[in-house]
Amino acid sequence: MEKLTGPKKIKTAIFISGRGSNLNNLIKFAKTKKSPIIIDLVIANKQAKGLKYADQYKILKKIINFKKSKIAEQKILSILEKKKINFICLAGFMKILSNNFIKKFKGKIINIHPSYLPKYKGLNTSVRALNNNEKFSGCTVHYVNARLDSGKIIMQKKVKIEKNESEASLDKKIIKEEHKLYPASILKIFN
Ligand code: GAR
Repeated sequence: MEKLTGPKKIKTAIFISGRGSNLNNLIKFAKTKKSPIIIDLVIANKQAKGLKYADQYKILKKIINFKKSKIAEQKILSILEKKKINFICLAGFMKILSNNFIKKFKGKIINIHPSYLPKYKGLNTSVRALNNNEKFSGCTVHYVNARLDSGKIIMQKKVKIEKNESEASLDKKIIKEEHKLYPASILKIFN
């Protein structure tokens, strides 16, 4: 007899470039009953440390060299098609995807960014916030469009900057909030 299963989960790929703490967190979230997504693929543009989580949870991983970004994107698109992926979460993925790629997954690519957007798009967000004596920073989950860190915001969370805050302590507070915000944003999208 065929095994009864719950509603079909959305086949998702996570793109990473580094440590992968958001990847690890999303894998754990995807294993919960309430999760609308299932993670079937991890893409990295290099031998990222975070790929160890794909190994640990036996998730298919692909490393795609971005020296020729057009070719890299074509390779990724063909893997995504083969694996029937229909949702992408960027989690510390440090390459900018082309308009052509984004159009193919319109409204189906989201990103997490370590600032309270629209403030501090781009890199070194915490140092810039500290140098400007900001009272708070934060994190934002948003849809990806053709402009850097500029797509429609899904959810965001403020993080207070204390008097003697260091870059390391601020980053630590922000990543802790990221790990709550990313799953919450996915639930918001699909519920
Ligand atoms: C996270 O703080 C994420 O917001 C940031 O990279 C870090 C990845 O950490 N993303 C960006 O800066 C994208 N512009 P992780 O590898 O431990 O998930």
